[in-house]
Amino acid sequence: MTNKVVAIDGPSASGKSTVAKRVAAGLEFLYVDSGSLYRGITWKVLKEGVSIMDADKVAVMLKTVDIFFFVAAGAVRFKIDGVELKNEIRTVEVNENVSKIAAMPAVRSQVVSWLRDMHRFGNLVMEGRDIGTAVFPGTEYKFYLDASEEERARRRFQEIHDGVEKVTFSEVNESLKRRDTIDKGRKLDPLRVAPGAVIIDTTSMNIDQVVAFILERLKPLLRK
Ligand code: DC
Repeated sequence: MTNKVVAIDGPSASGKSTVAKRVAAGLEFLYVDSGSLYRGITWKVLKEGVSIMDADKVAVMLKTVDIFFFVAAGAVRFKIDGVELKNEIRTVEVNENVSKIAAMPAVRSQVVSWLRDMHRFGNLVMEGRDIGTAVFPGTEYKFYLDASEEERARRRFQEIHDGVEKVTFSEVNESLKRRDTIDKGRKLDPLRVAPGAVIIDTTSMNIDQVVAFILERLKPLLRK
């Protein structure tokens, strides 16, 4: 592998997406949101009316999924069935089901292979749950972002509140806890700190501070 990969892992609402996008821009690397692939598959499963509990049917659907990857605006992006999914994959329904889909071995092996293949597009900053442990365990550049449960619920609530759906703080908090339990407890590639990862507790840090901290450690990768 000649292209470089910066792995940024951590639980939901730990600030990974915003930070990873900014780090990618700072390094002039391509940004990859690996969770959007698990969300895209979940959206497709729900759309096709496949039961979320039926791993065999989900595996069959995966074989025929029409997915296309491309680079635009500094990121590796994708279309499913010819459509680039945006708000459709951020709904309460997708949020509630994505952890179950992401725990299925057939889904994980397919997504991991798509993600590994992306390094052909260039240098990457990839965010997710298992990038440093399973997708690119060989990369030297690994970060694990975390924040207290309360702070993560507060951030996610703010994000949703700015959007279209109406939910209460305690619903957001409960939903985050359910997803954390599944993401950390699943058999295959659970959320873990990768060996050698730099752990950053972002509870009382703002985005600028986290980005500066990471870029400082990635100085050798910065273009002169
Ligand atoms: O980061 P996110 O909230 O968009 O992730 C959506 C779901 O996908 C979440 O339940 C965890 C799962 N996921 C995963 O298992 N592995 C990844 N590399 C990224 C996300």
